[in-house]
Amino acid sequence: MKIKKVVIPVAGLATRMFPATKAVQKGMLPIFDRPILQYVIEEVIEAGIKDIILIVNEDYETIDKHFNKDIDYRIKNSNNVSNEYIESFKKILDCNINFIIQKEQKGLGDAILCAKEIVKDEDFCVALGDVIIDSNKKSVTSQLVDVYDKYQKTVVAVETVSEDKVSMYGILEWDKREDNIYNSVRLIEKPERSQTSSNLAMVGRYIVKNEIFDILSHQNPGKNGEIQFTDALNELSKKNELLGLNFDGKTYDVGNRLGYLIANVEFGLKDKTNSEKIKEYLKNLVSSDFRIGDDYEF
Ligand code: UTP
Repeated sequence: MKIKKVVIPVAGLATRMFPATKAVQKGMLPIFDRPILQYVIEEVIEAGIKDIILIVNEDYETIDKHFNKDIDYRIKNSNNVSNEYIESFKKILDCNINFIIQKEQKGLGDAILCAKEIVKDEDFCVALGDVIIDSNKKSVTSQLVDVYDKYQKTVVAVETVSEDKVSMYGILEWDKREDNIYNSVRLIEKPERSQTSSNLAMVGRYIVKNEIFDILSHQNPGKNGEIQFTDALNELSKKNELLGLNFDGKTYDVGNRLGYLIANVEFGLKDKTNSEKIKEYLKNLVSSDFRIGDDYEF
């Protein structure tokens, strides 16, 4: 089955980014030159996905306005707007973008279940709307699709995290691996270090078999009283139906202040026009004779 649909849950309350997210959706906060969600959508488009299902809370007008409206007449003829941007945006406008409201924030699993009617009986992609993954080669979604095409199983993106971060992620325990693909035996949501010896964390990209909807619809609340997506995936793990891909790429968790700032700096450094200036500025900033607040000439 070809993966044609993506579910992007962005209905959460974004409390870690308060007060920035009081009136602005987290997905609309910019990382260097564009909103977080635009990076995520560009990534899935690169994998050939054109049906985009955004799970939103009730305040989603700005997201709708950004992604569903034609390129603004005010900017069409401006020299300040690059062709690269306009071309990328045309691809977004070519997609079919749907919004589904999650009325109560009952957890990620519940958010994904909201897409059941629109996904119908297809297998599909899930991409968290507050994680950007940058790859030099193929996008992480394309890498996952390749593994799904080969094995016809649910596959999740994983990476090794340090000891102190294990309790922040869904952790995958595995029994055998082939190159960078792991066979999952158990998934645990945000375990204490003592509960697992694995350091393989799920980072927010998944290709899922359609049966996940059936599992989610019968699932009881788990950790923090939420319907946990990890618990549903664990049911597939028990049946030997779940793989983990240690993908090629760098993850930016932009749903917290530090991750958000780091991503802004690094995407600024990737920008051809500004990279050298930003590098020079940062060097000066950390030099001993520079104090925060000093004037800096660009
Ligand atoms: P998070 O728990 O990381 O984000 O959920 P959050 O709830 O928005 O933020 P904090 O923790 O209060 O700061 C991961 C992703 O799942 C979505 C979020 O929007 C985020 O993109 N999500 C989470 C939902 O869509 N619905 C939910 O009920 C929970």
